[in-house]
Amino acid sequence: MTRYRLVEHAPGAPGLRWFGMGPDLRPSRGLLKLRRLFQKHAFWAQDRSFRELQRMLAGSDVVVSLWRGKRLVGFGRATSDGIHRAVLWDVVVAGDLQGRGLGRRVVEALLSAPAIRQAERVYLMTTNSAGFYKQLGFEPAAPQQLLVRKQ
Ligand SMILES: CC(C)(COP(=O)(O)OP(=O)(O)OC[C@H]1O[C@@H](n2cnc3c(N)ncnc32)[C@H](O)[C@@H]1OP(=O)(O)O)[C@@H](O)C(=O)NCCC(=O)NCCS
Repeated sequence: MTRYRLVEHAPGAPGLRWFGMGPDLRPSRGLLKLRRLFQKHAFWAQDRSFRELQRMLAGSDVVVSLWRGKRLVGFGRATSDGIHRAVLWDVVVAGDLQGRGLGRRVVEALLSAPAIRQAERVYLMTTNSAGFYKQLGFEPAAPQQLLVRKQ
């Protein structure tokens, strides 16, 4: 049976950020693998450099990675003020392993982290995976609107 290991990193994921740590706190070239996972399977995050990924992790309150052996197969992160507002970001599962419940595992791990659990409202943005998140208890936020600052 295939074994997947879910890693709940410390806030800011210092081990992953500096040493590429994966399961059992082993250096696993995790940052390189995260960059590849984004390049291949996350259309919105394809151009992130190592330095940007390090800053991204440093600024994340909750970070989860999912491994199959030495392969990084899933990832998700969240920011939170710990009481009022939290946002999930960058949830992704490797294409060949999608549809097997791994995305659900990543999101459930994010949602059960204290910093997210204790937040009054949890938001996320998605382009084409609303159906996935509806299964996990999210709903459209109408009448709220999503605005983005002009470039
Ligand atoms: C979206 C994504 C994270 C889902 O992960 P996954 O491992 O494929 O999803 P799961 O197998 O855990 O699915 C959990 C449930 O959601 C359903 N589901 C998955 N994707 C769905 C979709 N796009 N629309 C509707 N339902 C979906 C599954 O059928 C499953 O339902 P079940 O429990 O009744 O069987 C993954 O497909 C992915 O990485 N996609 C590309 C990147 C992306 O678009 N990420 C979202 C960014 S906001």
